[in-house]
Amino acid sequence: MEDQMKPNREGPSKMAESIAMQRFAESSKDEDERICYDPYAIHFINPEIVEFGIKHPEEAKAKIEAMENQLPGLSSSIIARVRYFDDIVKESIGDGLQQLVILGAGYDTRSYRIEGLDEKVKVFEVDHPNTQNFKKEKIIEIFRSLPDHVTYVPIDFETQKLGQMLFENGYNESLKTLFIMEGLIMYIPPEAVDETLNFIVNKSGKDSQIIFDYYPESVVDGTTALAVGQNIRNFLIQMGEPLQFGIKEGTIGKFLSSYGFSKINDVTSTDYKKAYFNGKNKNRDVCDLLYFAQAVVE
Ligand SMILES: C[S@@+](CC[C@H](N)C(=O)[O-])C[C@H]1O[C@@H](n2cnc3c(N)ncnc32)[C@H](O)[C@@H]1O
Repeated sequence: MEDQMKPNREGPSKMAESIAMQRFAESSKDEDERICYDPYAIHFINPEIVEFGIKHPEEAKAKIEAMENQLPGLSSSIIARVRYFDDIVKESIGDGLQQLVILGAGYDTRSYRIEGLDEKVKVFEVDHPNTQNFKKEKIIEIFRSLPDHVTYVPIDFETQKLGQMLFENGYNESLKTLFIMEGLIMYIPPEAVDETLNFIVNKSGKDSQIIFDYYPESVVDGTTALAVGQNIRNFLIQMGEPLQFGIKEGTIGKFLSSYGFSKINDVTSTDYKKAYFNGKNKNRDVCDLLYFAQAVVE
């Protein structure tokens, strides 16, 4: 069990691929139904999986249903997360964003699909080299070259310092910056979360922002009474990407203000269900255990 609690870093992140799969599935829906849209997500999924879905739709559907039974609502919460983060990036561009730092970027394609980023904003994609190298190969396949506005920063948060890696790659601490940590903080140790938040508060321009998502501490340490919480935890152990960090429910304000963040916004499943799951989507369940947070550096 001890070894199972350590991340398996033999290849690209399986969870990054799994999230790309969720975005692909949502993007395949009609425009009036889908909650987010990522035309590039398909490129990061093992082609055998896509082919299986085309050749064996009933079996693929049964697999998706089995996953939904095991982790009820989680895929819809992940889709809401993509949409919420997309909306904040777009809003930030309108508000004069100068720099975007995507931590644990995985197969995040915002750098390539959100209008205005390439003209006005310097983007850093920060990720483990095993996943980042695979992503860069795919980006070259799609666009023929790596875009000029994106700087790729390889890092292992467990052994390397974020600040040093960013500064070595041209990060400018005086710019108004948005930091995205989507599906990241739960996978890195508390010390790495602490170091990252301290860096952001101390080394970014006025009105910089942070957005991230988190699970309650009880899901991470296994004390949750909810079956879905136990299932999430066990599933991630099986995937080789165990949870490492959570935040006690109801304490996010205290947690972030202790670093010096302000204007803290805790977004619960009730909030995002109300915002995005209307009309054709009104019966979709979300997972109450996935929270989003937003805060500002003043
Ligand atoms: C669940 S994926 C999320 C990917 C992407 N942000 C998204 O939402 O699609 C987690 C990401 O965190 C990265 N990650 C996890 N632990 C890391 C570490 N110790 N150092 C660097 N990156 C790490 C993985 O490589 C992966 O890309």
